[in-house]
Amino acid sequence: MRRLLVVHHSPTDTVRSLTDAVVAGAGDDAIEGVEVVVREALAATADDVLGADGYLIGTTANFGYMSGALKHFFDTIFLEAGGALTGGALTDDGSASAAAGGKKPYGLWVHGRYDTTGAVRSVQAIVGALPWTQAAEVLTVLGDVGAQETAAAYELGGTLAALLSE
Ligand SMILES: Cc1cc2nc3c(=O)[nH]c(=O)nc-3n(C[C@H](O)[C@H](O)[C@H](O)COP(=O)(O)O)c2cc1C
Repeated sequence: MRRLLVVHHSPTDTVRSLTDAVVAGAGDDAIEGVEVVVREALAATADDVLGADGYLIGTTANFGYMSGALKHFFDTIFLEAGGALTGGALTDDGSASAAAGGKKPYGLWVHGRYDTTGAVRSVQAIVGALPWTQAAEVLTVLGDVGAQETAAAYELGGTLAALLSE
């Protein structure tokens, strides 16, 4: 059984509907052999991260950055999860290499009201220094969440889970 860890900050019903769709997609009946573990960002631990084979990360955009809750998650787990602070590993665009090989897949969704650019970049910069690799296009949603947005969120969840089940 492989484990997919969902770490999210979902402070409003709008964002929660996206998160619920991601989790539902990850648990799609057609996907076998994947256990989905869901943690709020302030509750997720390094053990959660180390025990997982892949990740789905969700956040609101706040002041052009990820939410404080998700930043707290990364602050808490970064070193134990294999993050590299030295050698210029941490860059603005998240392009720097993490530990060579064996990178675990991750997906990201971000909800905002007007511009999610900085929030996406802030996550990618940190994750670029973790032994993780982006395995699906980032899902960004501005404003209201309707059927199209929840379908995209469902697909994101299903994509990561399907990768682990292969
Ligand atoms: C303090 C604060 C800062 C915010 N900063 C941004 C931002 O930089 N970019 C953006 O698109 N939305 C921003 N927002 C909007 C939130 O991302 C949005 O409220 C959140 O995703 C929840 O969505 P909802 O209000 O539609 O339920 C901010 C909201 C707050 C309260």
